[in-house]
Amino acid sequence: MRVLVVSDALVKQRAEIMKKVIEQQRMIAEKMKKVRYKLVILSGKGGVGKSFVTASLAMALAMKGRRVAVFDADVHGPSIPKMLGVHGKRMYALPDGRLLPVEGPLGVKVVSIDFLLESEEQAVIWRGPLKTAAIRELLAYTDWGELDYLLVDLPPGTGDEQLTIAQLIPGLSGTIIVTIPSDVARIVVKKAITFAKRLNIPIVGVIENMSYFECPDGSRHYIFGKGAGRRIAEEMGVPFLGEIPIDPRISKANDEGKPFFVEYPDSSAAKAFLEIAERVIERVEGKGEGRSESQAKE
Ligand SMILES: Nc1ncnc2c1ncn2[C@@H]1O[C@H](COP(=O)(O)OP(=O)(O)OP(=O)(O)O)[C@@H](O)[C@H]1O
Ligand SMILES: [Mg+2]
Repeated sequence: MRVLVVSDALVKQRAEIMKKVIEQQRMIAEKMKKVRYKLVILSGKGGVGKSFVTASLAMALAMKGRRVAVFDADVHGPSIPKMLGVHGKRMYALPDGRLLPVEGPLGVKVVSIDFLLESEEQAVIWRGPLKTAAIRELLAYTDWGELDYLLVDLPPGTGDEQLTIAQLIPGLSGTIIVTIPSDVARIVVKKAITFAKRLNIPIVGVIENMSYFECPDGSRHYIFGKGAGRRIAEEMGVPFLGEIPIDPRISKANDEGKPFFVEYPDSSAAKAFLEIAERVIERVEGKGEGRSESQAKE
């Protein structure tokens, strides 16, 4: 018979860790009470423009007078700070341990692991539990203040890792699914719906990115086929929120660390984001769906 000897020190250490985790979860729950709507942005596939959509939607919601923050939960490829033009900035820690988010364009608050990295080349090679711990700490110690919207950009995929991260945020109000035209769309939307069901959160709707190319004369060319995102959303019984064009200025602005939405406010993409923001507001605030507990009591 094998006997497992567990030292008192190990038991004590484990108990200390559990205590810390419970305390941090309590702190997160406390902070989240001041946030009206918490939305996670999802896609069942990487590289479809999820981070770009998150950053732009945040600015569009801010433009509509909402108090907005973005939490970049992608510790391996944090791209939100660049897309919001705040890459290279630092978060401040107050003497009592609270962390202050970086303020981006239109007053959008940003929290990302990117602000804690020494250089752009520095790779984060944490394993799952450490990643979750880092995200939990950021959420627990950040002082977001009063917010209307907290948008969470998850790492690509809809697996266990994303589930764990999303579960750290209590009372999620809804999820927005980002897809692209093509056959991939069906898989992306399906995976995201399964994910949302596992988390028991309402689906705000589907956004199709890279839908069409607009020529200088205003004509629209649906290079990858028209209406796939809308069709699939209808098939799956979820709302369709809108189409974002493909625009070379988007990738250029993102690469250069300039916020596209404020750099090109007259572009079709920026206008599309304003319309999408309007639909999000309608869905989330208007129908009473996904209302936070505190607001539901109002
Ligand atoms: N509508 C668009 N037009 C042109 N380029 C775009 C558009 N949307 C996104 N891009 C570019 O495509 C690339 C991928 O975008 P983004 O990083 O937002 O995708 P993602 O889904 O968050 O990726 P990941 O899965 O790696 O997190 C970026 O270089 C971005 O600038
Ligand atoms: Mg991303």
